[in-house]
Amino acid sequence: MEHLKNSGLRRPFHVPYPLSSSALPGFNGDVTKEEKTTAALFLDLTDDYLDGGYRKHREPYECTGDPPTGTSGAFFSESGEKTPGAPESAATADTAPENAVPAEDEDSLEKVAEDIGHCTRCGLCKTRTNTVPGEGVPRPLVMVIGEGPGADEDATGRPFVGRAGQLLDRMLDSRGKIGLSRTRNCYIANVVKCRPPGNRNPQPDEIIACVPFLARQITILKPTVILALGNTAAKTLLDNTEGITRLRGLFTVFSGPLFMSGKTEIPLLPTFHPSALLRDQSLKTPVWEDLKTLRAKLCELNRRYAAEMANIPL
Ligand code: URA
Repeated sequence: MEHLKNSGLRRPFHVPYPLSSSALPGFNGDVTKEEKTTAALFLDLTDDYLDGGYRKHREPYECTGDPPTGTSGAFFSESGEKTPGAPESAATADTAPENAVPAEDEDSLEKVAEDIGHCTRCGLCKTRTNTVPGEGVPRPLVMVIGEGPGADEDATGRPFVGRAGQLLDRMLDSRGKIGLSRTRNCYIANVVKCRPPGNRNPQPDEIIACVPFLARQITILKPTVILALGNTAAKTLLDNTEGITRLRGLFTVFSGPLFMSGKTEIPLLPTFHPSALLRDQSLKTPVWEDLKTLRAKLCELNRRYAAEMANIPL
């Protein structure tokens, strides 16, 4: 990795313009800032892997997107002239709604939901009925993150409304002993916002395509704590290959997945997914332990919650 260390790829890292899709095989159109950031983060991951496997702290990248070069954008001819059907302005992939990431202070949950609604970044858009951005309160104590919508969520556009969702609601409240709910102090979302057909696990390319939406939601919501439900959420958020059985019950620090801008450090607790609980009753005991761990952490971090819980014995 010496060549990388000496390559000048240090932050703030401005990818030289123009870097066209021909420089990055597999990227479509002119290279957007997200694509450049992905490429740079991939190099970081490789660097960390070769350097012993530990993730180094790095400042965020400051990449910019390319304006159309006339060589690869679908709406531009070789000469750079606009082709019939091209939008009048803002015609590049970089500024198309589904790729543009608004500045942090201009972003909102509504914008994220709107962008998700138009999204065609992966194949799941072809089979979805509704997108499922998430729901809950704007400054949550807990952001609960699941895997992806199932049939009921796809039909309604709301997260966790099927059997697993009803169990999740009961877990979060636990007869007042945990005192959490999506209407009072939680926000509930998923790693992918469209239903994987037949409830299969989301594929890595689908997760990579969708995770910028989740990153934007976390950035906007700034939850006190994240509760990651199941393998997909825990592995995606922690960039970790350990299974949920090993990860669960231990608070760790979420410090930003791919695409996340700025420095973010949020305590994150992985636990089993409620669907796993529906299949295996024996997971009830560890999940209850995890919920008690969550309550203890929230009491440490939020005085109002601690005062409420003070009168409710476990
Ligand atoms: N399972 C999930 O992971 N998310 C949902 O929204 C519903 C079921």
